Amino acid sequence: MAGQIPQRFIDDLLARVDVVEVVGERVKLKKAGRNHSGLCPFHQEKSPSFTVSADKQFYHCFGCGAHGNALRFLMEYDKLRFPEAVEQLASRLGMEVPREGADDPRAQAREKKRKEGVNLLEMSASYFRERLKMPEGQVAREYLEQRGVSDEIRELFGIGYAPAQWEALKRHLGGQGVDESVQIEYGLLVHHEDSGRSYDRFRDRVVFPIRDIRGRTLGFGGRVMGDAKPKYLNSPETPVFHKGRELYGLYEARQASPKLERLLIVEGYMDVVALAQYGIHNAVATLGTATTADHLRRLFRLVSEVVFCFDGDKAGRQAAARALETVLPEMIDGRQARFLFLPEGEDPDSLVRREGASAFEDRVVCASPLSEFLFEHAAQGRDLAQLESRERYASQVLSAIEKMPQGVLKSLMLTELSRRTGVEQSRFEALLAPVVAEEPELMPFDDAMEPAVEEGQLPQRRRKSSAALGLMGRTLQLLVHEPRLVERLPESLEWCDGQGDDARLCRDVIELLRAGGYSSAQVLLMHFHGSEDGERLAALARKELLIPGPARAAELDGLVSYFQRACKTPSRQQEIDTLLAKQQSGERLSSEERSRLMSLLAARD
Ligand code: UTP
Ligand code: MN
Repeated sequence: MAGQIPQRFIDDLLARVDVVEVVGERVKLKKAGRNHSGLCPFHQEKSPSFTVSADKQFYHCFGCGAHGNALRFLMEYDKLRFPEAVEQLASRLGMEVPREGADDPRAQAREKKRKEGVNLLEMSASYFRERLKMPEGQVAREYLEQRGVSDEIRELFGIGYAPAQWEALKRHLGGQGVDESVQIEYGLLVHHEDSGRSYDRFRDRVVFPIRDIRGRTLGFGGRVMGDAKPKYLNSPETPVFHKGRELYGLYEARQASPKLERLLIVEGYMDVVALAQYGIHNAVATLGTATTADHLRRLFRLVSEVVFCFDGDKAGRQAAARALETVLPEMIDGRQARFLFLPEGEDPDSLVRREGASAFEDRVVCASPLSEFLFEHAAQGRDLAQLESRERYASQVLSAIEKMPQGVLKSLMLTELSRRTGVEQSRFEALLAPVVAEEPELMPFDDAMEPAVEEGQLPQRRRKSSAALGLMGRTLQLLVHEPRLVERLPESLEWCDGQGDDARLCRDVIELLRAGGYSSAQVLLMHFHGSEDGERLAALARKELLIPGPARAAELDGLVSYFQRACKTPSRQQEIDTLLAKQQSGERLSSEERSRLMSLLAARD
């Protein structure tokens, strides 16, 4: 992974970009006095309550309270993650995003290699596309035509053809100076250990490039045109391609509409392509694997609703049951999952061609909500008039509900289970594993300031608890509970420069809070949702703070000055001396140097 984006770069970026321009490209704005106004893109409204201020470089909606700067707008509107939003703003200004630690030779080598791989895959994709247009691609063109794929859709998905030769791509890439070993590493060549020979993996196949959300090619899927086996061949796992994470068609879906609300998850490449051909541009396919939690997290970052499409046969129902298990833990309130079963023997490709787009869309609209599918699935093959069956039915549903995160949907499901079985809801609640009450946090202010207490002096319980959290953890916890406290922090983040996970996360959190102007813990948690960091933050959010509001700011100040003292080293003293000398010699310090000096001095005893 690339390193952190330095805060000063983000400041610089925000100073150069114009929020009115960024918003104006996406929302129709009218000048109104000093500000601009328009219809809020974050809620439904008929008269404009959304304003953008060029002076303050801020947008604000008086209707729904949405507000923030240009970065926040991109994150919310384009559903980008923080680094992606930074990349996007930077690229419109022609700025390169620097990464901390990027001058570390190992990181540089990694980055170089990643770029090499990406270029190589891009070169291969365009090579395959070219081949499709050549005389040798005629069979493939006919095949696509016979399957009803228009030229336009072929272009949209960048579909190509891998020639029926052993070394066509290998020679082409070799001619461009790409090492054979790199071609092997990125799955383009198959290497035979025994003979030491290597040859093209994709031969005489129609080739579908698999792209990431920004359109960069990560790998390929290739379909035979005859009956040879396997029908589809996919890129193997490579440094950039992980089957359990990528989704075919996601880039194309986002290109078709930046404001997606719902995504369909289908099985095959051709399903995605055929649906697009019929104007249904919001389908994605897993790549020959079951849907994973990783997939779902990606999708739920973009849309609030996913619809799984399954064949109507037994295998389809089994796949649906697996998808249900995977999606349950992701069902935080506000998200929706639905299950669509197609008639037996049909896939979305065949069905949309037979019935047309609007009949297919009708099926999507009528797909079963998760709750309905869950209850139906558990009832299947059971005679609910019989007591024992009813017990097994209830147990199965209950163990599914148990996997859901806390929320309104979970409570409603319990109510429904109670209605369907005639058993009181409180009984079911008692059967659910208790929500693990986090151990109360018992680190008072004084303790936080003097962490170096001898081990034995602390009572057993407290020692365990503070060891589990740590001081940096406590700092994070304060920020998670009260994001506004970020305003109190010194500009320089030197005090949390440490190597530990919490220190790193603390920097990320602070940078995010500063860039986004967030004041809600929820947004913060959503941003990190689905990662280990997200879990850490969610765990901290669940722990109660146990100290009143005003004391929190004081505790945070105390923690920061503790860290500042702790990180002070002789080299810092030298830095202070240098800066002071510069100032005293009459030279003007830059604002960055001034704040650096302030924080260095503040950290001094
Ligand atoms: P299907 O066998 O259902 O085929 O595979 P399909 O998508 O309907 O393909 P067409 O319509 O005959 O062209 C569904 C998906 O499973 C993966 C592919 O991702 C495919 O799109 N698959 C299938 C493989 O990876 N390898 C195979 O040999 C077959
Ligand atoms: Mn098919």
